[in-house]
Amino acid sequence: MLSPRSIVRKIPQYHPPLAGRDGLRLDFNENTVGCSPRVLARLRQLTADDLARYPEREAVAARVAEFLGIRSSELLLTNGVDEAIHLLCQTYLDPGDEALIVVPTYSMYRIYMAAAGANVVSVSSPSNFEFPVTEVLNQISPRTRLIAIANPNNPTGSVAQRDDLLQIARSAPNAGVLIDEAYFEFYGQTLLDQCRELPNLFVARTFSKAYGLAGLRVGVLAGNSDQVHLLRRVCSPYNVNAAALACLPEALADQSYIRQYVSEVLEGRTRLESLLASSGIQFWPSQANFVFAGVGSTPQDSAAIVEQMRTRGILVRDRSSDPGCAGCVRITLGSREQTGRLLTALQEVLQRLPLAQGALPA
Ligand SMILES: Cc1ncc(COP(=O)(O)O)c(C=O)c1O
Repeated sequence: MLSPRSIVRKIPQYHPPLAGRDGLRLDFNENTVGCSPRVLARLRQLTADDLARYPEREAVAARVAEFLGIRSSELLLTNGVDEAIHLLCQTYLDPGDEALIVVPTYSMYRIYMAAAGANVVSVSSPSNFEFPVTEVLNQISPRTRLIAIANPNNPTGSVAQRDDLLQIARSAPNAGVLIDEAYFEFYGQTLLDQCRELPNLFVARTFSKAYGLAGLRVGVLAGNSDQVHLLRRVCSPYNVNAAALACLPEALADQSYIRQYVSEVLEGRTRLESLLASSGIQFWPSQANFVFAGVGSTPQDSAAIVEQMRTRGILVRDRSSDPGCAGCVRITLGSREQTGRLLTALQEVLQRLPLAQGALPA
């Protein structure tokens, strides 16, 4: 019988709840109103000939590089940040190497690292989810070959300080250090300017979040040109599809759309945080398009909230199974009007479900 590599059996299945997502989707940190109309207009213009050809990435990559203020040689367009993570693992990890993550964090780091045969070293965040820089530095060893840090982090929304991230990159010169800036637009701080200085530093961006293009699957991996050159060796030349490549310049051109959407999300974030504070619900200050809240101390507490919200037509994400997150839910913010609906429903649910607030996570 055909058997997979032994490591594949050990990788836990990751099945995000994508099925039947009817209602207001505040569960995947997506853009909740859809992309710029300019993108849709371009999509409608695609011809059979556009689809018949293998996609040609370079001209669009040059446009993205210009937008980011870097050289084309310092950037690779990818099939979402997920592919960027995968490519980094394929490029730098040999079986038995160490790869470091700070948990809780985005699930795909561990999966791709483990699939490459690496020993995944998980540094736990403290209960306030502040970035544990000292512990990360202590875990760096000569065997550390890849470090992945989401900044802002998912699911907590917390951030690491720029100097701490730079210190990590300098302390691990034999490791690729990925700063995953999937939520950059909601935070505004970046390490992109450091990629030329630090040859082991990589920055990833995505068009899946603020830009509303999660379904097109397109992201960016930026780094030192020599390293990006190596990454291209393990990357398909056709990794980003023709529709995504056609739409990307339009998405970038409509920055006023992004500014408007981001400003409504940030306003919503403040409103949601105020409601949680006034309801005595613990939450962690977020720099992303979502808020992480401890609605109880057990998985049943968070499951009850998720269910109650679902019956009101609003999907939020139960993150109880993440390390140190029992009783926690993650709530994505959308437009002003959607935040209004969210707050009305949440207030009602919180009033109906008196939670054991003394038992909230510290
Ligand atoms: C931190 C982080 N990185 C990457 C991704 C996935 O990005 P993409 O859709 O570009 O693959 C997510 C999605 O939730 C995320 O939270």
